[in-house]
Amino acid sequence: MAVAEWIAGTQNGQGAHAVELAKRHLVQPWPEAGEIGSESRALIEGGEGIYITDGEGKRLIDGPAGMWCVNVGHRREELARVMYDQAMQLSYNTPWYTMNAPSAVLAERIASHAPGDLGHVFYTTGGSTAVESALRFMQFYNNVRGRPEKKLILSRGGAYHGSTYLSASLNGRPRDRDWMDGADDLVIKLTSPNAFRRPSGMTVATFADSLVAEFEETVQRLGAERVGAFIGEPVQASGGVVLPPGDYLQRIRKICRDNDILFIADEVVTAFGRLGHVFASGDVFGLDPDMITFAKGVTSGYFPLGGMIVSDRLLAELRRSNHPTAMYAHGLTYTSHPVGCAVALANLDLLENGVLEHTRAMAPYFQARLKTLEELPLVGEVRGIGLMACVECVADRESKNPLQLDKNVGERIDAHCHELGLLVRPLINMCVMSPPLVITMEQIDDMVRILREGISRTMDDLRREGVWRG
Ligand SMILES: Cc1ncc(COP(=O)(O)O)c(C=O)c1O
Repeated sequence: MAVAEWIAGTQNGQGAHAVELAKRHLVQPWPEAGEIGSESRALIEGGEGIYITDGEGKRLIDGPAGMWCVNVGHRREELARVMYDQAMQLSYNTPWYTMNAPSAVLAERIASHAPGDLGHVFYTTGGSTAVESALRFMQFYNNVRGRPEKKLILSRGGAYHGSTYLSASLNGRPRDRDWMDGADDLVIKLTSPNAFRRPSGMTVATFADSLVAEFEETVQRLGAERVGAFIGEPVQASGGVVLPPGDYLQRIRKICRDNDILFIADEVVTAFGRLGHVFASGDVFGLDPDMITFAKGVTSGYFPLGGMIVSDRLLAELRRSNHPTAMYAHGLTYTSHPVGCAVALANLDLLENGVLEHTRAMAPYFQARLKTLEELPLVGEVRGIGLMACVECVADRESKNPLQLDKNVGERIDAHCHELGLLVRPLINMCVMSPPLVITMEQIDDMVRILREGISRTMDDLRREGVWRG
């Protein structure tokens, strides 16, 4: 059957057939061994604005905006047309020894929004490859500068940085590394900055102090001459929307500068509008990183594209080093892809011409409405910033213990919400919400009403099963 017929006709039963084919032939991301290669997941057949439509024709609010990426919403004709036009003009060129115009024009636009002296962009295929590129750049930079021992990377509990080998080695969420290998000789994990889970008796301010002290002690113990980079998400996203406590990140930035440790802000989620700005590092947190990694929202998910932005200073140091022929032997077939860069330009037009402003206007309402869910006894905390938030469920508000609960409480809530018309991103005992940025106040009301009902039904189930007595 022709592809166009597939796209147009999924509603005629082909969707069910596709699910069968998936069970026989498709390996889906993050599968469990007992189900690998034989899973059926909810089929999504269409999207429009903040909504998606499932295989049964049910319309759902896209609570996580895909994977925090469909920032300007689904089915934007402006973006689809640009992809078509660019593919008809030039669908691909080798970046090894040629270049295209959209990648250069986009690099200038991105640099104009980036903080400090972040003036140069290297493109990748997504977030993991962006992080990988930044870390390999740090290794190259230190090799060329004659200090090959300065390679250790500081990462944090609760972090998520990707699924390639080195980026995945940085991950610090529960379960991520239970069955997977990593470059443990290169990565040192620091305490998660999650203030909700700080030791009892500590204020948020003393918790921030303890994180900074841990950072300083770690650099001292390892020796600054061995530490190449710190990498952190300004707001830990998949770790449960964890905001940096107090001025802790700014203090870490200073320690990095004092010790010549590169500060890499992983803005794969926070960039391109999620917090109402193109980049959050400078505009929201007053940071000037040495590198920023981005992906997802750069194309609103319409094309796989990511990248890293590098400080002009670092590049200038390389240019005047004693090793002018040393090669940063790193590049991807799809680096600087013309279709990806063209759609990113059109996406940036939309963000600059209203979507960023709309996001900043909606954010306080979004946060305030979600915060009302703390009235429910299963909800331990609702936290967030911009248009990203996390509803964290706990068995007991005093002990904040998530573990006595059925660990899949997030999935239970998601199942009820799906029935009611909302797709949720379940993360163990948490539900993460990051809808398309074009969401309106009425749609926020709808989203919160459904989530409240989904959590209430989950509480009823847990009580009925005797798992919880809240
Ligand atoms: C902060 C962060 N960095 C990196 C990644 C990896 O991006 P990708 O899945 O595009 O490789 C993600 C993905 O969710 C992310 O949230």
